[in-house]
Amino acid sequence: MDENKMREKRKDEHVQLAISPQSNSSLPLSHFDQLLFVHQSLPNIGFNDVSLKVNIQGLQLDTPMYINAMTGGSKMTGEINASLAKIACETGMAMAVGSQHAGLRNETLKETYQVVRKSNPKGIIFANVGADVPLDFALRAIEMLEANALQIHLNVPQELVMPEGERDFKGWLQQIEQVVHHIDIPVIAKEVGFGMSKETIRLLKEIGVQYVDVSGRGGTNFIHIENQRREHREYEYLQGWGQTTPIALLEAHEYLNSMIVFASGGVRNPLDVVKCLSLGAKAVGLASPILKILLKAGVEEAIEEMKHWQEQIKTICTMLGAKNIDELRNCSIVITKEVREWCEARGID
Ligand code: FNR
Repeated sequence: MDENKMREKRKDEHVQLAISPQSNSSLPLSHFDQLLFVHQSLPNIGFNDVSLKVNIQGLQLDTPMYINAMTGGSKMTGEINASLAKIACETGMAMAVGSQHAGLRNETLKETYQVVRKSNPKGIIFANVGADVPLDFALRAIEMLEANALQIHLNVPQELVMPEGERDFKGWLQQIEQVVHHIDIPVIAKEVGFGMSKETIRLLKEIGVQYVDVSGRGGTNFIHIENQRREHREYEYLQGWGQTTPIALLEAHEYLNSMIVFASGGVRNPLDVVKCLSLGAKAVGLASPILKILLKAGVEEAIEEMKHWQEQIKTICTMLGAKNIDELRNCSIVITKEVREWCEARGID
């Protein structure tokens, strides 16, 4: 099979495996359940006082939820992108496309990404490339979508468990630095479900990155997905690799005032979204939960579900007495069990 066909087949398989019931890393209990809000009986606000708008430097978001990077690069995934764009358009969510390498290498696949802009001309759209791409590729990826921001994905474990994946990660940081200094829209360095550490965030900050998506473990697990794609599942024991999303956000704690932090990975419901925001995330990404609803129930159902999530996020904000996303930072949250132990071991207050 030629390289292009192999890449298209991989894109389709990722989607199929991501929506299969065993797609997630099998955490006995989500670390989100180890974060507990303190209930307050007198919040002193009303539901209609709550605004979910997010104003951050370079990006105005109508809602703090966005559709995270997934796909493009084959006929089937182009159709999925068109549906995701419709969901984004109807719900006001920002949306990222999946890695654009296929579209950058093969002109005929470009439209499987561009459909996202066509379906949502005024939407906030994130381009997506790997850390190994040269500056001109990054610029072409942005141009392809008239993107409002660029995500650069960091996916070392995924590459290493793929037999056809990268083996040499030298130079990634320098490559990202090049891109950050020559691009005038937000550049978001993003994990793909293994969670960032404070050391990683510090390195990124030092080279000028101002936006990160810590994308932690607990949801889509690419070690597991890549294992499922082949007969010999030799890396199954590595499924627990990486920081969960609550832990990754706590790792980001000391950077919350000097960088823009997004969270994603294993977000199951509106309460998980609010927990991320309360720990300092400015917005929260969903990948497989939206893909699952879309492919099982269709676009209209997915739109309804995302609207429900937005209503319910407002409900929870009302209970917490938070009129906006920034005020959620003041809510008392108790950190228990392993998440607490991790913070103690890592010296995170
Ligand atoms: C992804 N993800 C991803 N991320 C990225 O930066 N570039 C990509 O091309 C892809 N591809 C991709 C395909 C599929 C099918 C899925 C489900 C996910 C990772 C994604 O953006 C996110 O970081 C993780 O999936 C964790 O979020 P969820 O799925 O647990 O909500």
